[in-house]
Amino acid sequence: LRRGGLETDLAGRRVVVSAGGTREPIDPVRFIGNRSSGRQGYALAATAVARGAAVTLVSANVDLPDPAGADVRRVGSATELRAAMLAASAEADVVVMAAAVADFRPRTAAEAKIKKSGAAPRPIELAENPDILVELTRERNRAGTGQVVVGFAAETDHVLEHGRAKLARKGCDLLVVNEVGEGRAFGTADNQAVVLGADGSATEIPNGPKEALADRVWDLVRERLAG
Ligand code: CTP
Ligand code: CA
Repeated sequence: LRRGGLETDLAGRRVVVSAGGTREPIDPVRFIGNRSSGRQGYALAATAVARGAAVTLVSANVDLPDPAGADVRRVGSATELRAAMLAASAEADVVVMAAAVADFRPRTAAEAKIKKSGAAPRPIELAENPDILVELTRERNRAGTGQVVVGFAAETDHVLEHGRAKLARKGCDLLVVNEVGEGRAFGTADNQAVVLGADGSATEIPNGPKEALADRVWDLVRERLAG
């Protein structure tokens, strides 16, 4: 493989990457969020552009400069991320769900800012968000295209076992499994992972810059693209 912007093995391919973390509104000024920085998703978008792909980046609450050459679409909540991903993925050759999607959202978002009342605070009732990755793989299967779908997972324990079960549940082609805890992955520049394939493969990616991990993921995707 040639480096330095000369690698164009994704030329003519349309890829969609989600990045960042969703924010689920409690009221107009408050939300439930997570610590995803968006760096891994942005690295995936930047490396895909460098390899010649047409890239749509669905970005949830990321404080990073836009990757040059990517079509960036900003979203806030999981509901907005879902709509943007379903729309953008219809025409895509590759879909990567690198975003950290909130599993739950407040059942209702208050229309006005919640005030202290002097009484005990009301609990926030939660509702489960739809699983966007499952919906994307289902849609791919229904359409019968050769679209390659990639998921991410962060696990703290029994990484391979949990990863395999998650891969099967999601129905995606590749699952990039990060081992988290002890300051790893979230908010850092480096990342290490094992990439599990629906074909039974397991590829170790040693600790390194998120761009290097992104390039290895694209290598694995490239092997699975038809033509
Ligand atoms: N994901 C998604 N929609 C959700 C939750 C997760 O598309 N509502 C995607 C993430 O973007 C990621 C993958 O699913 O690519 C795995 O996310 P993860 O949180 O590890 O999986 P969950 O199914 O939510 O399981 P867990 O109970 O372990 O959080
Ligand atoms: Ca989750």
